[in-house]
Amino acid sequence: MDCLLGIETSCDETAAAVVGTDGVIHSNIIATQINTHKDYGGVIPEIAARMHVEAVNLVIAEALQKAGQPARDIAAVAVTQGPGLLGALLVGLQAAKTLAYIHQKPLIAVNHLEGHIFANFVALDAPSKLEAPYPFLCLIVSGGHTQIVLSPAAGVYRTVGRTIDDAAGEAYDKAARILKLGYPGGPAVDQAAQNGNAEKIKFTRAKIRAPENKFDFSFSGLKTGALNYRRAHPEARMEDICAAFQQTAVEMLVTNTLAAAQEYQISNIYLAGGVAANQTLRRALKSAGEMRGLQVHIPDLRLCTDNAAMIAGAAIRSYKTGHFAELNIQAKPNWELA
Ligand code: KG4
Ligand code: ZN
Repeated sequence: MDCLLGIETSCDETAAAVVGTDGVIHSNIIATQINTHKDYGGVIPEIAARMHVEAVNLVIAEALQKAGQPARDIAAVAVTQGPGLLGALLVGLQAAKTLAYIHQKPLIAVNHLEGHIFANFVALDAPSKLEAPYPFLCLIVSGGHTQIVLSPAAGVYRTVGRTIDDAAGEAYDKAARILKLGYPGGPAVDQAAQNGNAEKIKFTRAKIRAPENKFDFSFSGLKTGALNYRRAHPEARMEDICAAFQQTAVEMLVTNTLAAAQEYQISNIYLAGGVAANQTLRRALKSAGEMRGLQVHIPDLRLCTDNAAMIAGAAIRSYKTGHFAELNIQAKPNWELA
């Protein structure tokens, strides 16, 4: 079985993974920088790039060793070309190009967001379902992106809804900062929300009125709502604010996704990105979707946040069809999926 080496350094995780061309993950190593960035309340791009430089070779070596694959036996090297932080992307790209050159292996450039989608199609401990049922809709919710993507066929994507301001993960991170829950905020708000009463506080749900943008999202009002509520009610239980924030955010995400599914007559829904780890979102999308007779696919919790297995997974089709990148490709910090 041919194996691909995946490399991911677009934000604050240095990651490398070895994935078979059948989608089975042989190793998936992640060195997170969260503990460093935590002190600043967010990712500092220069520090991220420097820490990737320190970690990238060690992480790659560990991924290869754990998979029992010397670099010379790897079939191709897949790397995130964008979107992401420029300095951070450059480190992974340089490592990938160097390995591809030394071992004379093909290089495959991967869009980070397509990588997130492929967290659904690679598997840690079972044969994977590499072939998606087309057409499908995917709700991508991460720290930098929130969009509903329609995929009519392999490798073809069309964005049918997107955030007009903050990404969902960004809203979570900002809400957590307001509530002094630390960075990254998503898991902390999620955790606190499980012990809160969402009915005690009502946050306004932003509605996009323009018919041509009816599946778009807006999260900045929700974040301001949390800030104003905290200021006006210092005595309120933090868990209740988190639960109400989470209920509103999840409701917006689920409502638009299902409305888009109905409009485009799509019965397969996927979830992807760091916020896909959110317990309430996972439950709500699944139950609301299934109530409408849709198939809702939720990625393994361990593959939601940034990792390189999803990057290698997204490269399998290019590997099989011989779509390789030149060694002089540049990072694309603003690369849109569609
Ligand atoms: O996909 P990801 O790892 O990085 C980007 O590509 O942005 O997503 C990170 C984002 C952060 O904003 C983090 O707070 C959020 O995902 N996140 C969560 C949860 N776990 C991570 N948000 C809500 N609930 C969670 N359980
Ligand atoms: Zn990501």
